[in-house]
Amino acid sequence: MTFTRRQFLQSAAALAVLPHSARASSSDLIAQTAMQQIAPNGFPQTPVWSYGGGVPGAEIRLPQGARVQRRLVNELPQPTTVHWHGIRIDNAMDGVPGLTQDVIAPGEGFDYDFVVPDAGTYWYHAHNRSVEQVARGLYGPLIVEEATGPDVDQDLTLMLDDWRLDPDTGHIVEDFDNGHDQSHAGRLGNLISVNGQFDPVFPARRHERLRLRLINASNARIYDLALDGVAGWIVALDGMPLESPLEVEDGFPLAPAQRADLIVDVTAESDTVAGLISRERDGGFGLVRFPVSGNSATTARSGVVPLPANPLAQVVLDGAPVHRMTLQGGAMRWLESAQLGDTQLSGRELAQLGRFWALNGYAERPLDPFLDAQRGSAHRIEFVNETAFPHAMHLHGHHFRLILPDGSLGPWRDTVLVERGQTREIVLVADNPGDWLLHCHMLGHAASGMMSWFRVT
Ligand code: C2O
Ligand code: CU
Repeated sequence: MTFTRRQFLQSAAALAVLPHSARASSSDLIAQTAMQQIAPNGFPQTPVWSYGGGVPGAEIRLPQGARVQRRLVNELPQPTTVHWHGIRIDNAMDGVPGLTQDVIAPGEGFDYDFVVPDAGTYWYHAHNRSVEQVARGLYGPLIVEEATGPDVDQDLTLMLDDWRLDPDTGHIVEDFDNGHDQSHAGRLGNLISVNGQFDPVFPARRHERLRLRLINASNARIYDLALDGVAGWIVALDGMPLESPLEVEDGFPLAPAQRADLIVDVTAESDTVAGLISRERDGGFGLVRFPVSGNSATTARSGVVPLPANPLAQVVLDGAPVHRMTLQGGAMRWLESAQLGDTQLSGRELAQLGRFWALNGYAERPLDPFLDAQRGSAHRIEFVNETAFPHAMHLHGHHFRLILPDGSLGPWRDTVLVERGQTREIVLVADNPGDWLLHCHMLGHAASGMMSWFRVT
């Protein structure tokens, strides 16, 4: 049967009068299985878990102050939830099972509805069994636009992920709870994708100005990124603008869950290839290619202006109490003992239960909050990393400022990398009421002990 033009118009009109929810609407976010070419062409496709049929899930892009309304429909064989990483969100929408909502069972749905107060680069990802669900592909970008954005020719979101694939079948290796990974650096893969593709290509012209929104969706990989044939500045970290943009001279780190917004100019000659590089001990490799052809209509720009600031609290360090959070355990520094609930267990007993790490002596989210803060109060948190591995410590519902070694205030972040043996201090203005997670974003570490929480009332 073929539609006549009239029939088509009739059915289109009929569709238009249906109430919004009766249609498969663009406001559904369907968690579903899919097949995708993650490995290079010639290798088999990979069965993934996705939001809407592709990895990453569709970019959610909206103006600052607007509302995100999405019904998560769970078509996966496992319960799930969605966390909106970096959004200073209404607590009920934060997507943490057992703390802010119940899991969404297979076949069920949940309506997420929240306002985005800050412009910048954020992301969303599964927060139930995230060590497995994020590794299978359940993540996507969430971009909040400034009222007046910077003057750029292209605005590119580049979402980095690190897959562990079987090269013969293309399938994800399903050893998500592998105790060796969990007690070491976490799940590291054998193939890096950008926007779900191997080595993608974004054509550019000489002198063009690009905004690059880098998001690290990997379970555990810390990138050391560098630019080739483009030059510019980091203008925001974890969504939040830097007061003074930082010129990229060498490499810069991007830990799991972290974002960096760059504004760069294409300096490479026409008919060459510029790119983004992951530096490794043995040299490194390209992640993204920018083949350069011709000259942009505009001539090279010079300098950059900071992005407009977001409406964050004033931070006053004076009088803010210091709370120490000690990070312990893992290979080479095995736990002697730690608590699960009310029970003190030995390191050996904990390891048998798949617990290798502890935060302040707890090898899982404790019953009582690490910090019980009065709304609006400022708190210093000192992360003391006694382990032999780096950890990416993330707070939900808030951004915080780093306290630099000289005592001055550093950039706003929502995830801070604490190197092995290092102590890093942050200051938090606890101004968003609710119960909020605080955990390592190496997802295998979070699953095996590095999980805590704080309360704001
Ligand atoms: Cu990006 Cu607790 O999460
Ligand atoms: Cu960790």
